[in-house]
Amino acid sequence: MTYALLASGDEKKIEQFGPYIIERPCSAALWKLPKHPQVDASFSREKEKGWEYAKKLPSDWTVDFNGVLLKLKPTSFGHLGVFPEHATQWPFLKKHAKKRVLSLFAYSGATTMFLAKQGIEVCHVDASKGMIDWAKENAHINGLDDAPIRWIVDDVMKFLLREAKRGSVYDGVLFDPPSFGRGSKGQVFKIERDIHKLLGAIRNVLSKDASFVLFTCHTPGITPLTIENLLRDAFGEKGTVDSGELVLDGALRKLPAGTFGRWFQ
Ligand SMILES: C[S@@+](CC[C@H](N)C(=O)[O-])C[C@H]1O[C@@H](n2cnc3c(N)ncnc32)[C@H](O)[C@@H]1O
Repeated sequence: MTYALLASGDEKKIEQFGPYIIERPCSAALWKLPKHPQVDASFSREKEKGWEYAKKLPSDWTVDFNGVLLKLKPTSFGHLGVFPEHATQWPFLKKHAKKRVLSLFAYSGATTMFLAKQGIEVCHVDASKGMIDWAKENAHINGLDDAPIRWIVDDVMKFLLREAKRGSVYDGVLFDPPSFGRGSKGQVFKIERDIHKLLGAIRNVLSKDASFVLFTCHTPGITPLTIENLLRDAFGEKGTVDSGELVLDGALRKLPAGTFGRWFQ
């Protein structure tokens, strides 16, 4: 059993993660929640409830997610270690990623694993040492211990400025910035304030014949057109720009799960 969106509605989503059925909040799901299977665990942000368990779950478990093995575990902020909607961009990456890719805000590494399995060199950057350790465990269970993955615990902006100084370039960059995040030394990242700085710094590490930039986002108000316009300004003097909604395909309803924009040539 792998991942499936089983149902959505009443501001919730019910998902299957391997053997377990999990309910989590989802502000976009304003329609009615249909009948669905009994859940094993649920997460609520109300009154600091956090996780509630109908059945004892192990501290972690492994799921085969579109051919990539991922270690999952409930975290205090309601995540499980994968943003399943990102996999909708894997066919794009398969087509456009060439040799050397930079993954920023790279989290527990599902997309890093996907790229490394295609033989692509990945530089994986995240400010959280815990996240990098989790991604390394994912590399291990996928037999990718010796794959050319460079693990960087650092603030994205700081890292990009350093890479540009060194003249280090990449032929593809993907990034999934949070609305608000902190670098490894507490540096504050606010998407609305810092997006231009981030795009400029990414531009400085793109090789002359770079093949793609992939920007994904979950910030309310940052629509596909917002991302498309930003990418056109930053990279659009050549190549193609497109954008759209990240969509999770469910049994009854499709669920909007964020935004993507892509530049490619
Ligand atoms: C996957 S992204 C955001 C996911 C999603 N877009 C959201 O808004 O929840 C979250 C990751 O970015 C990392 N992060 C946040 N701020 C960062 C920064 N300034 N530099 C590097 N990584 C950062 C976090 O450690 C986390 O693993």
